[in-house]
Amino acid sequence: MPKGTYIFPEGFLWGTATAAHQVEGRNQNNTWYAWEQEEGRIINGHQSGLACDWWGGRWREDFDRAQAGGQNAHRLSIAWSRIQPEPDRWDEDALDRYREMLVGLRSRKMTPMVTLHHFSEPLWLAEMGGWENEAVIDAFEAFTRKAVEALMPYCNLWVTINEPNVFMLGAYIEGLFPPGKKDFNAALQVMQHMIRAHARAYKVIHELQPDARVGSSINYRGFRSASWLPWDRLAAKALHTLFNDLFPRTLKDGVFNTIRKKTSIPEAIGTQDFVGVNYYSTDMVRFSPFAAKDMYTKRFYPEDAALSESDFIANIPEGMIEAVKWAGGFGLPIIITENGVDDSKDSLRPRYILEHLHALWKIMNANLRVEGYFHWALVDNFEWERGWTQRFGLWGLDLETQARIRRPSVDLYAEICRTNGIASDTVEKYAPEVMETLFPG
Ligand code: BGC
Repeated sequence: MPKGTYIFPEGFLWGTATAAHQVEGRNQNNTWYAWEQEEGRIINGHQSGLACDWWGGRWREDFDRAQAGGQNAHRLSIAWSRIQPEPDRWDEDALDRYREMLVGLRSRKMTPMVTLHHFSEPLWLAEMGGWENEAVIDAFEAFTRKAVEALMPYCNLWVTINEPNVFMLGAYIEGLFPPGKKDFNAALQVMQHMIRAHARAYKVIHELQPDARVGSSINYRGFRSASWLPWDRLAAKALHTLFNDLFPRTLKDGVFNTIRKKTSIPEAIGTQDFVGVNYYSTDMVRFSPFAAKDMYTKRFYPEDAALSESDFIANIPEGMIEAVKWAGGFGLPIIITENGVDDSKDSLRPRYILEHLHALWKIMNANLRVEGYFHWALVDNFEWERGWTQRFGLWGLDLETQARIRRPSVDLYAEICRTNGIASDTVEKYAPEVMETLFPG
């Protein structure tokens, strides 16, 4: 077997990602907490509860683990509901807590990346109609101003909104996220408000911090036509346009294009400094005239793809290449802000990480500027409507005791971060089954 190392550029950001509601615990003043209290919303009635107890201070030990694992960056989110618990009240203690976390990252020589909105929001916002109400744009601007003023001494890398496309789908089309609507027109309205709120936030952040770098994180889903039939191909293309493209395309050219209708949002033009890509998997797509609620499509995984523990994710690393190529089309640097797999036994994860990073390395050689990779996630956390049934952490979490469980991927990822690359020895040690694919010969 040949030996060698695929080296990443100097200064590449190696990190993991987390989100406030998923790790903090004890967060009772937001839309997701309320959602968890409703029967039938979360699998098995699971609740976020203490989560990973970051609000109780366990972020310290988890940041220690990340640092010991050679990571030089971490992406976390801050909870709007904690910082602005009521429309006319800011909570300075909450801001202090976040300040401490960011200082904690800096003192561990890790670059913080902060997300302002990651799926959860204050109850008062939901009561005014949430993202359907245009007033959310002013509200998000005010929150951004307050949070960035407080945190900018420690952070200059910002994600305004995490996965506006997944939020639109989950909350307003599939009804799986609060407020649980199934209303396509409302979804499009929400998306427009998110774009305008993002544009405002972008401007506010740059006004406060001229050297800031601001982007969003889009969940890029691969959509492959299941056949050569024109209607299957059209269906796959329509999904790509509506799911992947809608948000970032509008930030590029100011045109909100829903295939049926184009709306101009000129203030969005040029409001990102990097494209954040969350890539997990790729679907096969077939046109289905009876599946109105699934946008007239049937989606499934290719038969030969290895599936994750809960069948939620198929291991399709070529999709990473496609995602990065697509992101490169916006002419901006790219950051992989999430990528990962649910796997409590760590049987697929090592291979998933190695194959996705190898795919990333390959496409970076086509002269695409990718500045970092954040694995989802540092530690198992509350997986939204799927509760605790999925385990995405490099580190496992014992919910009863709060103990962290070291999975082999902890050491695998540490070797990658420390080497700033993928060494054949690492592959041989952690996922010999992909040795031939990654180091053929
Ligand atoms: C979200 C994360 C989530 C992950 C795995 C992404 O869509 O941004 O919050 O935990 O997927 O389900």
